[in-house]
Amino acid sequence: MYETIQMLHSYWAYFVLIMLIAAVGNAIIGYATNRKFAVKDLRVSLFALIFTHLQLVIGIILYFISVKGFQMIQQNGMKLESADRLQALEHPVVGILAIVLITIGWSKHKKAQTDKRAFGKIALFYGLGLLLILSRLPWKDWWNLY
Ligand code: HEM
Repeated sequence: MYETIQMLHSYWAYFVLIMLIAAVGNAIIGYATNRKFAVKDLRVSLFALIFTHLQLVIGIILYFISVKGFQMIQQNGMKLESADRLQALEHPVVGILAIVLITIGWSKHKKAQTDKRAFGKIALFYGLGLLLILSRLPWKDWWNLY
């Protein structure tokens, strides 16, 4: 069970990052070129949102079944080494914050008065979320870099 969820979270991460990069890139181009916010722009932003939310659900399950998540905090309190701290605390907390920002961006883009503003909201909020996620990924464990 743990291995399956861990593998799912690990592989799904590629799709999440690819979709977020695509949505942010697309929004920046749309903003810069003043084009119309079309169905394809809606799709790429919505897919990035759904993929990220699925990763949140998988991540929360993983947090409670992994020895590197909640159990790590239960056993050691807040006195964690930096690698453990990254996985048990920083990555989950910053990840949730990033997903909140992405969700705010989605809802703000829907209320935007102009197409340029809609692109702007996606570019800004999804972009910030993406940077936050990238800043706190457990890269070493992900790619087994030691
Ligand atoms: C926002 C998007 C997220 C991405 C792209 C992401 C990606 C990743 C990646 C690549 C790993 C390393 C996997 C490996 O070692 O093979 C990881 C580990 C982990 N993630 Fe996430 N994650 C995200 C959000 C979350 C959230 C919101 C939580 C919890 C609430 C979470 C909990 C965990 C835990 C506990 C681990 C360590 C699991 C273990 O190796 O036992 N993640 N994540």
